[in-house]
Amino acid sequence: MTTASIPSFPLNGGGSIPQLGLGTWPLDDAEVQKAIVAAAEIGYRHVDTAVKYANEVGVGRGLAASGVPREQWFVTTKLDGVYQGDDRAVAGLDDSLQRLGLDYVDLLLIHWPLPKRDQFVSTWETFIRLREAGKARAIGVSNFKPAHIDRIVAETGVTPAVNQIQLSPPIPRRQQRAYDSEHGIVTESWSPIGGSGDLLAEPVLARLAEKHGRTPGQIVLRWHVQNGLVAIPKSRNPQRMAENLAVFDFDLDADDLAALDTLDEGPDAGVDSDRSGH
Ligand SMILES: NC(=O)c1ccc[n+]([C@@H]2O[C@H](COP(=O)([O-])OP(=O)(O)OC[C@H]3O[C@@H](n4cnc5c(N)ncnc54)[C@H](OP(=O)(O)O)[C@@H]3O)[C@@H](O)[C@H]2O)c1
Repeated sequence: MTTASIPSFPLNGGGSIPQLGLGTWPLDDAEVQKAIVAAAEIGYRHVDTAVKYANEVGVGRGLAASGVPREQWFVTTKLDGVYQGDDRAVAGLDDSLQRLGLDYVDLLLIHWPLPKRDQFVSTWETFIRLREAGKARAIGVSNFKPAHIDRIVAETGVTPAVNQIQLSPPIPRRQQRAYDSEHGIVTESWSPIGGSGDLLAEPVLARLAEKHGRTPGQIVLRWHVQNGLVAIPKSRNPQRMAENLAVFDFDLDADDLAALDTLDEGPDAGVDSDRSGH
């Protein structure tokens, strides 16, 4: 797998995001440094972290040790609730950049909307200034619902480039995806292969894996790819990292996609971002 074969999606404010990246939660500094060096050799050029993961120092060391030039990497970090309101995101991003050893991140996300605090609009205004200052090439949100995005767009005129949400065949988030695509927002899937759950043990995945000569994880990641999503599977294991990246050379047919639709657990599945977050 060469990096040239990983497609990218254009972002509404400029630049582009590779369709597959490496998730890094809950790796610690030492583990993530090792993982990124291995991932770079396999062909990954996109890494997802967050202040909350407490591993940005290790991410930065991994990026530096990879030998891959900075401009070839796409690095995302997220600021959580501590950094909402009162321009706290300015110092928050400066501290992140220092830990990462970078001058800019490719994508900066508001980690959770925390609607009861009602500070996400002013946080978004700060993010817009951080983008203008060049410290974040693109800005976006995570775990936002249509009503949250409607508000930031109405009050600032700036649409997020990306919305990173929990998304997988059991939690397909069709309504949010339709909203994102109508608004030119790239939808990015967290826990794309089901996180710590047992998605990959579903019999339908064993059947499709056998049909295509692939693994269950590859079938699920190919579902994300064919649905036009960005996915950030996490693995600490180089063999599984390679497996997760090798999903651009086969196709699921209409019957396969319909079979995966049967895993849908309904609109109440997954984390409710109005009640969660930190
Ligand atoms: N924005 C948010 O609020 C939010 C929330 C949660 C997560 N995230 C981000 O999204 C990333 C991905 O989500 P996630 O880590 O929750 O879940 P995930 O990527 O769906 O699943 C990770 C789990 O799957 C295992 N795995 C990886 N590849 C595999 C394969 N090919 N076959 C079998 N098992 C495999 C991993 O174990 P091994 O490491 O042993 O391979 C790990 O236990 C996170 O790392 C984080 O960067 C964001």
